[in-house]
Order: sequence, then structure tokens, then C-alpha cells
Amino acid sequence: MRPGSPIDPGAVFSGEKVYIRPIGVSDTEMLLSWRNSEYVIRNFFYRKPISREEHLNWLENKVNKGLVYQFIVFRKDTDEPVGCVYFQGYDVNENSMESGLFMSPDAPRGVGLAGEAYRLMLFDFGKEVLGLSEATARILCENAASIRVHEKLGFVKKKEESLPVYPGNGSVRALLMICDLQKNNIKEA
Ligand SMILES: CC(C)(COP(=O)(O)OP(=O)(O)OC[C@H]1O[C@@H](n2cnc3c(N)ncnc32)[C@H](O)[C@@H]1OP(=O)(O)O)[C@@H](O)C(=O)NCCC(=O)NCCS
Repeated sequence: MRPGSPIDPGAVFSGEKVYIRPIGVSDTEMLLSWRNSEYVIRNFFYRKPISREEHLNWLENKVNKGLVYQFIVFRKDTDEPVGCVYFQGYDVNENSMESGLFMSPDAPRGVGLAGEAYRLMLFDFGKEVLGLSEATARILCENAASIRVHEKLGFVKKKEESLPVYPGNGSVRALLMICDLQKNNIKEA
């Protein structure tokens, strides 16, 4: 499967503590309640709450066309949905996609759920299925938990820069981090 092809909606990638499966229309309310929460929004550059209509448009024009791959993360012990991981913006020159993640504000923190889910997407799907060479991520410098998750999976800091936040005229310090998926062969997170 190449970047640009839609993923099988029934695909599942399973680890020790979590499994991930592609998002669908029925995940909309749950996903937006996470994405629009203060916990998540303050860590993103785009801080305008996302409406149901905007999200459905995104599903139709990005996800269903294979331009974005987005997965819901479930705990294996309870089958409870706890977060989301995604790839977007394929760069054909670098054979690379931008990766990201956010957890539910109610998910247990610091117990490795996000790290394992991200590893499943980056390596089991991004490297093994899509054949990507590289993943990139932009992270607020103050987001220590996210930087830690990325570093543990082999991302390295490429540069630090000021990036605008929307809406408003503000900007934040951010890191561009890059993971060489072909070189790294992470089995545990
Ligand atoms: C960032 C986020 C995904 C991490 O989720 P999580 O389930 O806590 O992640 P994990 O448990 O897999 O790993 C977190 C790691 O960060 C560490 N950590 C947590 N808070 C930290 C802090 N303030 N300083 C340093 N390290 C910290 C944890 O100890 C853990 O590392 P360890 O496994 O070596 O102990 C989650 O907090 C989140 O969704 N935040 C809001 C949205 C967001 O920031 N998304 C990322 C945008 S780039």
C-alpha cells in the first residue's frame, strides 16, 4: 500500500497495552470532545474549536482519500477508547509524513498508552505498510510529555523555531523533530 491510498477500515494494529483502528464517522463526537478540550487544544498550533461539519469534511476529503491516516487508540484490557494518533501531509521528496497524537483528557497519563499507540502507527503501519522513510513532528517546546514520547521512539530534534498559533497574532516556540523510520527499529515503547 502506498501513501495516497485509503486504508482498509477494518485494519487493526495491536500491541501489548493498546490497539489502534482507523477512525470512522461514528467516532466524530468523541474525537471532537478530545480535540476541542483545553488539555489538547493548548498543545496545538490550531486552537480554534473544530466543528462537526469541519470534521466530517476532513473525513471525506482527507481521510477517505488516503491523504490522512487517523486511528482511535483503545486500551486492550477494557476496550475503552483513550486517544488518537495520525499521519498527514505526505512529502513525496522525502517519502515522509507528519505524525501527531492526542489522548483523551480522561485517559491515564504517563503509563505508556500514547507511546505504544504511536509506535504501532509509526512502525507497524507507517514503516511496514506504507513504506515511509521518515516521520516529522512539530511540538511545543513546553510540552515535555510529548517530547519524551517522541524521543523514546527515536525522533531527534532538527530545529527550534517560532510558529504562529491560530486564531490571534501570537506565536510559540516549537521543535521540529524527525524520525528515520528505516534506521530505527523500535520494538518497545
Ligand atoms: C503528550 C501525550 C500524548 C502523552 O500521553 P501519555 O499517555 O502520558 O504518554 P506516555 O505515558 O506514553 O509517555 C509519557 C512520557 O512522558 C513523561 N512525562 C510526562 N510528563 C512529563 C513532564 N512534565 N516532563 C517530562 N516528562 C514527562 C512520562 O514520564 C513518560 O515517560 P516515561 O515512559 O519515560 O516515564 C498526552 O499528554 C496528550 O495527549 N497531551 C495533550 C495533547 C498533546 O500534547 N499532543 C501532542 C502534541 S505534539
